[in-house]
Amino acid sequence: MRPLLFVVFISLLMCVFTHGKKGNVLVLIGDDAGFETAIYNNSVCQTPGLNYLARRSIIFENAFTSVSSCSPSRSAILSGLPQHQNGMYGLHNTVHHFNSFTELKSLPLILQKAGIKTGIVGKKNVGPEAVYPFDFEVTEEQMSINQIARNITLMKDKASEFLSKIKSE
Ligand SMILES: *[C@@H]1O[C@H](CO)[C@@H](O)[C@H](O)[C@H]1NC(C)=O
Ligand SMILES: *[C@@H]1O[C@H](CO)[C@@H](O)[C@H](O)[C@H]1NC(C)=O
Repeated sequence: MRPLLFVVFISLLMCVFTHGKKGNVLVLIGDDAGFETAIYNNSVCQTPGLNYLARRSIIFENAFTSVSSCSPSRSAILSGLPQHQNGMYGLHNTVHHFNSFTELKSLPLILQKAGIKTGIVGKKNVGPEAVYPFDFEVTEEQMSINQIARNITLMKDKASEFLSKIKSE
């Protein structure tokens, strides 16, 4: 249960940045990240950046996922629908090549239609691309998963890049 809870915690890191009238949305998804943060009362790992974000956020202490699997759980985060409604029954990558239904109205699509800038940093690995378009993407499709989804320093840098980009637009 705990790793699954974390998936939902991470989804709450969908931060709404209000540089414009409408705000902007950045999704940060770590890969194989657990509860090793001070936010979840871990006393060993020092996570000042996440703590700062958490102080201005809602922390979910109880949350559920519709499936304990990689791409399907992220498709639920990004669509608000369980797998039998969004089509992502299995893993998206390599030989698995599962995809969501082409007519799915995902979160990034709905936000894009509303003129809200969207970014995703970390693990994405859902498809098809046209169903999950973000204005700013730095994901494991572009670089090693050990860097973008498991290197919190790099994720922080890319989150800053997103913020600078939308600020200058
Ligand atoms: C962390 O510990 C505090 C104090 O015991 C508690 O109120 C809080 O619910 C805990 N947070 C989580 C996420 O478990
Ligand atoms: C994580 O990313 C930072 C920033 O790009 C880099 O300096 C660092 O070497 C990376 N850490 C690892 C373990 O690769």
